[in-house]
Amino acid sequence: MPIARLVDPTYIRQRAAGVNPNAISLAPSVGPGLAEPRHTTHYSIVDRWGNAVANTYTLNSDFGSGVVVPGAGFLLNNEMDDFSAKAGVPNVYGLLGGDANAIQPGKRMLSSMSPTMLLDRDGKVALVVGSMGGSTIITGVFQVLVDVVDFRLTTQQSVSEPRFHHQGVPANLITYDGAFPPATLAALRQRGYTVEPHEWPLGDVQLIVRTPTGWDAASDPRGRGEVRRLP
Ligand code: DON
Repeated sequence: MPIARLVDPTYIRQRAAGVNPNAISLAPSVGPGLAEPRHTTHYSIVDRWGNAVANTYTLNSDFGSGVVVPGAGFLLNNEMDDFSAKAGVPNVYGLLGGDANAIQPGKRMLSSMSPTMLLDRDGKVALVVGSMGGSTIITGVFQVLVDVVDFRLTTQQSVSEPRFHHQGVPANLITYDGAFPPATLAALRQRGYTVEPHEWPLGDVQLIVRTPTGWDAASDPRGRGEVRRLP
């Protein structure tokens, strides 16, 4: 948690307002403070020989399972939430699993993590991409691929374009992040969709694309990633 946010005078005034100086302040009136940002991390790497890594890793939700491995100092994740603990009950990302996603051998979890590489016809890496974002990872990765491959946008434009998300249930909900033309949003509403801004940044895509002269890389302006070129 950045210290600058904790000591920000506006934030402190807001927190102080939850405390009654003349009586006992109960926990619900004080409430939780700043929310922990999501910490799933993706990095894309290409080296000078064209070897590539697309790595998405996660604790899943905040602090994962809340269990620290004694003596090792790291938390265990709670990725079991990507299975379906109970048919018809959504997980933390609102994804609905069924019997096929039960916590049992031979079943499949509902993971959205999709670290991706595109290869050219000779089998050489042409693009490396991935993202954080829970259920919006697939959405983000797919829309960026469409921007690069079909719309031929630049690497930076491809990660910066507005994105939208629909995850099947609820059927009528579309969320978005970025400046879509008002006419597009109105047309979707006309078709019966509830269209609203996504609660979180819609992914944080890290993209590397091979160009005729080398490699081009871009980090999503929604996130905290950065492009590094090592000598
Ligand atoms: O594997 C998955 O699909 C998720 N558990 C990923 C979690 C995630 O991206 C958390 N938020 N950024």
